[in-house]
Amino acid sequence: MELDLTKVKNIVFLTGAGVSQESGIKTFRDQNGLWENHSIEEVATPEAYERDPALVHRFYNLRRAQLKEVDPNPAHKAIGHLSQYENFNISVITQNVDDLHERGGVTKVLHMHGELRKIRHNHTGEIRYFEGQVEESEFKIWRPDIVWFGEAIKCSEHIPEVISQADLYIAVGTSSQVYPAAGLVSMASAQGIPTVEINLERTNMSSSYNTTLLGKAGEIVPEFIEKHLKVKL
Ligand code: APR
Repeated sequence: MELDLTKVKNIVFLTGAGVSQESGIKTFRDQNGLWENHSIEEVATPEAYERDPALVHRFYNLRRAQLKEVDPNPAHKAIGHLSQYENFNISVITQNVDDLHERGGVTKVLHMHGELRKIRHNHTGEIRYFEGQVEESEFKIWRPDIVWFGEAIKCSEHIPEVISQADLYIAVGTSSQVYPAAGLVSMASAQGIPTVEINLERTNMSSSYNTTLLGKAGEIVPEFIEKHLKVKL
């Protein structure tokens, strides 16, 4: 399908693990769902934290430290570059807990699944920016501000509003398997706006999009922006 995107202003990106893959961020699925032989349920659920806060903090301390060793890749930077243009209003809804969109230059990022760079007080609910390592004495006081399995996503009140204002919806590097992210493409289609999927391979949701572009996010996202949105990167 030939896309005419000359009048597009408000663009929503939904991003998943695939957008950070070329930056070297490891995901559970890369490692057969295991971290040091622990399953996802052993480190990413409220029950796991209750049972073994030290294990859970060790996992997130490592992931937080890993952020300092990775950089935004051309996909993050291209979206960030687009955000600097007055002609466009860019929102990123991400399932990722890294900070690579922010470091790539995007100002409006909704983190559905929380952020590695934030911790939350177990009693007061206070949320703090935090870049270091949670120490043993604090293990039960602060938890990672991450949405664990079985918990409600963040920003759920803002997401429908952001989509309702969009003229174009682009999903990058997400298998779109996990709800509610999986439902956003239908929400976008229902309002008649073009929907584009960028992924290494076709996904179970590909038939829900107007167009699927196959390849690496770091190559296809900048190409798409230059070709269809006429922005020189
Ligand atoms: N470029 C483009 N797409 C890529 C790349 C790449 N370099 N590398 C991987 N992909 C694609 C894969 O083909 C896959 O479809 O990215 C997708 C990643 O899918 P998932 O691992 O399911 O990640 P995501 O969609 O973010 O998962 C949602 O599930 O594991 C939970 O909570 C976790 O936030 C995560 C959620």
